[in-house]
Amino acid sequence: MTLTENVVFSSLRRTWQPVANSADLPPGRVTGYTLLETALVIARFASGRVLAADTACPHKGARLSQGCIRDDELMCPYHGWRFDAGGACQSIPSLLEPNAEKQALSHLNVYAVQERYGFVWVKLEATPLLNGQLHELPAVPEFEDPRWTYRMGPPMAFAAGWRREVENYLDMSHFAFAHSGTLGASADPRIRGMDIKVTPDGGYQMDAPFPALQSTHELPGKLQSAHHRMQRGYLPNFTTVRQSFHDGDERVLVHIPSPNTRESCTCFWSLAISPGFKGPPPEAQIEFAIKVLDEDRGMCEMQVPREVPINPVRGGWGVLVMPGDTLANTFQKQLRRWLTADTHA
Ligand code: FES
Ligand SMILES: [Fe+2]
Repeated sequence: MTLTENVVFSSLRRTWQPVANSADLPPGRVTGYTLLETALVIARFASGRVLAADTACPHKGARLSQGCIRDDELMCPYHGWRFDAGGACQSIPSLLEPNAEKQALSHLNVYAVQERYGFVWVKLEATPLLNGQLHELPAVPEFEDPRWTYRMGPPMAFAAGWRREVENYLDMSHFAFAHSGTLGASADPRIRGMDIKVTPDGGYQMDAPFPALQSTHELPGKLQSAHHRMQRGYLPNFTTVRQSFHDGDERVLVHIPSPNTRESCTCFWSLAISPGFKGPPPEAQIEFAIKVLDEDRGMCEMQVPREVPINPVRGGWGVLVMPGDTLANTFQKQLRRWLTADTHA
């Protein structure tokens, strides 16, 4: 069956996608985000409540994301119309008398918002997925366990489609090349001992030993030591890695490449570190992860075309699959099933 990008975006509109780190959105902050080609205004009010709505002002289409919070209302920068945290128009300054009818017609087009794991999430459509279920966020207990150290990464914009980023995160044979300057120049690119399963929710999981890497890099000896790696993908684009080191320490990382357009995404990510972790301090781990992610960004941005084709093709997926590509290939196959609600796709 031939799939199209329209099918991909219409399904993703029914899923929760990150649009900001909560910490970057204090009360009174107004910002913008393009999610699935929908230009949004994101604003936090004094109560802590977050509004996500179409950014185009109902009056003349000015970008509300360039507005500000004034007296705890979102004010349009052009003619000063004001909106409350629910998107209701509260005032039209050019009128001598308030006009309830015009205000009612000026309600913003608002979207569902939730905050979890330190991210602000938006769902553009409240309708169920093709499998009949409403999309919910996966549970990652370590992210909410006060005994673990939890740190947010700065969101990173990729000039590449979201599936390029997912594939890169699942790629098992690029370390020795793309990360020679950080993770290790002498990493062994040969793949051994990977165990990949499809999970009951239609996602996928890989378990594999990860070899020790050798590098002259000064910092992360611990992070380059041999460990067990468990990658878990929740469709469509929520992907975690659990690293279990031989001394019992663990780290759990998540990547969520939130699609901006068909050829760009923003990677939201965070890191949970087990209690008493013996290694670089959390801030140093984040700094190191930024360098690694930036190397990955460079790889994703130079791939042609900018998004992985949704149907199998040479240079894409499903053809020329090497051992290090099997996990990414499993992702593409399971995504295809998820998009078509067809277990035989
Ligand atoms: S365009 Fe927003 S108030 Fe006129
Ligand atoms: Fe990488």
